[in-house]
Amino acid sequence: MTRRNFAGATAGALMAADGKIRLAVVGGGFGTQFYWHEHPGCQVAAVTDLHSDRRRALRDTYQCDSVYESMEDMLAKRKDLDAVAIFSGAPDHVRHAVECMRRGLHVISAVPACMTLEDAALLKETKEKTGMRYMMAETSYYRQAAIYARELFEKGGFGQIHYSEVEYYHDGNREQMIADRKSLYYNPDGTNSWRQMLPPMLYPTHSLGFVMGVTRERIQEVACLGWGDQRMIAQFPANRYKNPFVNEFALMKTDKGHMVRCNVFWQIAADGERAQWFGEKGSLYMAKSGFHGDMWHPRYGKPAAVSVPNYWATGRLPDPAIGRLPEKMRHDSGHGGSHTFLAAEFIQALLEKREPTVDVYEALAMTTPGIVAHQSALRGGEQMKVPRFDRGV
Ligand SMILES: NC(=O)c1ccc[n+]([C@@H]2O[C@H](COP(=O)([O-])OP(=O)(O)OC[C@H]3O[C@@H](n4cnc5c(N)ncnc54)[C@H](O)[C@@H]3O)[C@@H](O)[C@H]2O)c1
Repeated sequence: MTRRNFAGATAGALMAADGKIRLAVVGGGFGTQFYWHEHPGCQVAAVTDLHSDRRRALRDTYQCDSVYESMEDMLAKRKDLDAVAIFSGAPDHVRHAVECMRRGLHVISAVPACMTLEDAALLKETKEKTGMRYMMAETSYYRQAAIYARELFEKGGFGQIHYSEVEYYHDGNREQMIADRKSLYYNPDGTNSWRQMLPPMLYPTHSLGFVMGVTRERIQEVACLGWGDQRMIAQFPANRYKNPFVNEFALMKTDKGHMVRCNVFWQIAADGERAQWFGEKGSLYMAKSGFHGDMWHPRYGKPAAVSVPNYWATGRLPDPAIGRLPEKMRHDSGHGGSHTFLAAEFIQALLEKREPTVDVYEALAMTTPGIVAHQSALRGGEQMKVPRFDRGV
């Protein structure tokens, strides 16, 4: 396998247009935050959004003048693209990813990979039939503390991790913003967004990314409870998902028999994505960003602060298959420094003709347990089996 490493490369050495990945970006909200233009092996060749202000944001961020009014229009007109970064709303991910892969385009998709088990099967089948590469942009995978935990686990530092607590809290109860139709629950044009009454467990990947992203285990069984807040439900009568819950709490069992407590809450006086991993030899407590530091508690010793490196500052990633961050991308970025790593990993994987780290199987392993968890919550906490979507299964 030819492996190109852009760590020390100068832009001049990589100017040949045919050596670059021609990437299109769909979605000018979160999709503006990925620094594609800083990777010397990537050219942002087209951008698109349904809203004009977001098209402008994409054009300005990525310095790309090939702007389209929809992904469909772009795909019909552009035959020279290599890959598409899909940052449309969650319910559109599978439709958009499948459309792109069927047209011979590699895909990186925002989370979650899918929202139904049928779509999980379709995504896997399409990836396998077309042979295109697929990556999910799970930010928890490249949070600096998650990289640290993964490295420690791979070196045997934890021994077995028999229990993990993983959580994603995104408080949406900002009443004035909701009244002004300015919150995430509304699109830029004031129409209802896909986030209104989204079942929390249909968005499980920021929590489960801390499980698959460290031990690579799979969830086999889940039992989940949900809590619904009548005020919130009354605020959003459309309720397209017919969902009665704003917070969901699940207990999960992995294929190694280990336990996971996984929360996704939309209404809570807390914020952010966090994990604690409890191992045979010690436990790692991830800091709540902005508060106290990360902490390691050795089994037979005293807990002490650990200094998690800023991997983005050095460009160093423990996994040698990934190479190093290009010089220009060695800066802090969103969600715990993860954005530059996600972008660089996708481009590197395409250049090196290999599967990316968070490939379709990892993506579905992080996503599908939540789909079953929500079904369990609707059945009052029944313990349910989670089907596998791995290679050859
Ligand atoms: N930490 C994280 O990983 C993280 C954080 C925020 C958002 N996200 C994910 O990123 C995605 C985007 O988030 P957002 O907040 O910007 O969502 P959003 O709903 O505000 O924006 C989606 C954009 O996609 C555009 N779009 C939809 N269909 C299109 C089409 N056919 N052609 C062109 N454009 C189209 C819409 O016009 C819209 O502007 C979501 O799926 C979300 O789940 C992930």
